[in-house]
Amino acid sequence: MLKGSFELIGDKSISHRAIMFSSISKGKNKISNFLMGQDCLSTVNCFRKMGVDIEINNNEVYVSGNGLKGLKSFEDKLFLDVGNSGTAIRLMMGILAGQDFKTTIIGDESIGKRPMKRVTDPLKKMGAIISGRDDANLIPITVEGGNLTHIDYHMPVSSAQVKSSLILASLYGDNTSFIHEKMRSRNHTEIMLKSFGADIEVNNLEIKINPVEELFNKDIYVPGDISSAAFIMVGALISENSEVLIKNVGLNDTRVGIIEVIKKMNGNIEIIDEEEICGEKVGNILVKYSPHLIGTTIDKELIPKLIDEIPIIAVLATRAEGDTIIKDASELKIKESNRIKSVVNNLNLIGAKAIELEDGMIIKGKTHLQGGKIQTFNDHRIAMSFSIANLISNNKVILDSDKCIDISFPGYFNLLKKLSK
Ligand code: S3P
Repeated sequence: MLKGSFELIGDKSISHRAIMFSSISKGKNKISNFLMGQDCLSTVNCFRKMGVDIEINNNEVYVSGNGLKGLKSFEDKLFLDVGNSGTAIRLMMGILAGQDFKTTIIGDESIGKRPMKRVTDPLKKMGAIISGRDDANLIPITVEGGNLTHIDYHMPVSSAQVKSSLILASLYGDNTSFIHEKMRSRNHTEIMLKSFGADIEVNNLEIKINPVEELFNKDIYVPGDISSAAFIMVGALISENSEVLIKNVGLNDTRVGIIEVIKKMNGNIEIIDEEEICGEKVGNILVKYSPHLIGTTIDKELIPKLIDEIPIIAVLATRAEGDTIIKDASELKIKESNRIKSVVNNLNLIGAKAIELEDGMIIKGKTHLQGGKIQTFNDHRIAMSFSIANLISNNKVILDSDKCIDISFPGYFNLLKKLSK
């Protein structure tokens, strides 16, 4: 049983953006509730290496920005290590495309397998010189920027990382750029850059960006990460007699797919005390044990609103009556692991009934999980999802490694212990 209340740690997507955008803006600012996870710290290290003064004090960060074109290379060959972070590499390439020096980006084994052509192709179209393995698809990738043109680009995939990278490059363009999304993905970039003085207009799926001379820093408060809260929400929904109040959850419309799904599945979840801080919705969420969950179908427009929550939704689905069908989610194959395979194989290993689809999965419910040894593939969201499955399994669910959880949720096991009664 999970019982109690807690303040949620900062949002990963917004923490990355706060460091990056502050670094390329003028003036000093304070970022509060910054996520001290490994991914965001990789971003901090990259920008420090490019001459930005970033001070960390508990979970507050002070950035003295260098201005739009003020990043520097102090080495003949500048290497930036993004570790495990797809957001760091893809967004940073958009900024590097506007700087007139040469940088090589490296990262860990998982990032070494993730496709970058979705970003490097349009950035090359804008005039950046980019090279790397497999025609600039895989790291190490070298970016030589400066002198960008503008772009009118219809994105072939729904991805906030690609969109954000191109918005950033467009700030350095020679004229107005247009980016067209296939489906609405998270919009933290648009919100934060506008508040820093960027000239961005959003009309449904079209984003219009005019280049600007400079951006100007403002203090930022980072709301809690709904993608991290998702593990505790599901833990509370499936463990008998649970009741948890999660405080300070980011409730941006482009991120709340998990709440919509929980409601559709007959889960007991309630949003209380909603307000807006720094352009982002924030609120408290009350979740209670829900014994009458039902299966659902998740597809199309909903997918970008919950893409990172699918592994934990799959665990939830094992407790729901009937089938849960997840489709239109091929993007899962290129996350920190192939999340279609890692979820389906691991669920079956612990006694659930899951079927792999080309673009998703089917989870048959209701099943009683038996437990067993699972492989995390060093994917933080797989590790946390199966640690929640452990709460309702007959025998223990044993993870091959749990160090990867620090990527997005430092202190996760301490919190789970505190809430476990
Ligand atoms: C992110 C966007 C999503 C998400 C990732 C964070 C972001 O990726 O999966 O964890 O911060 O923009 P895609 O944009 O590739 O879908």
